Amino acid sequence: MALTNYKPKLAIVYASATGHTERLAEMVTDASVRHGLQPEVFSVKEFDPSELLRYDIVVVGTYTWMNGEIPRQLHRLFEAIEQQSGNLVTGVFGTGDRCFATYCGAVDLFRDMLHAKTRLAATLKVEQMPSADDRPRCDAFVKSVRVKYNQYSKTLPMVKS
Ligand SMILES: Cc1cc2nc3c(=O)[nH]c(=O)nc-3n(C[C@H](O)[C@H](O)[C@H](O)COP(=O)(O)O)c2cc1C
Repeated sequence: MALTNYKPKLAIVYASATGHTERLAEMVTDASVRHGLQPEVFSVKEFDPSELLRYDIVVVGTYTWMNGEIPRQLHRLFEAIEQQSGNLVTGVFGTGDRCFATYCGAVDLFRDMLHAKTRLAATLKVEQMPSADDRPRCDAFVKSVRVKYNQYSKTLPMVKS
């Protein structure tokens, strides 16, 4: 049956000012490939939010800015996902620094919105630059996303073109 071999379309969209979140995006990408997915990876500057509908799964990567805020480059994406119908499976990962009062606050802000507006599967926070020790956490994150998609796709079989 055609749907049996259908690979969900996964976009990983991230923002990174000094490279930590970019490295974590690479590790999440590698974990996705290990889990049989074929992710398309975008710096948020390269991603057109009108393309969201092309994807079954969108995973967002963010660092945290002043007082626990979402970086400005991600505001358009945040608002575009907020307008979704609720059919998107999502996850959010990010890096931050525990010396700030609101550690990875941007991940929490995305988490709250994604929980309300999409089928949020998982969140992942890493302090500063990820290391090899974070690889199992990336695997667990992607596994949760994959499981959520598999559960959801059983209720609504459809193929994106
Ligand atoms: C001005 C400034 C404000 C920051 N504010 C926070 C914050 O509120 N919470 C937090 O967890 N990290 C904060 N950070 C730390 C960054 O989010 C952290 O270094 C992150 O790993 C940077 O990711 P990137 O290398 O992908 O840009 C701040 C860093 C700077 C320079």
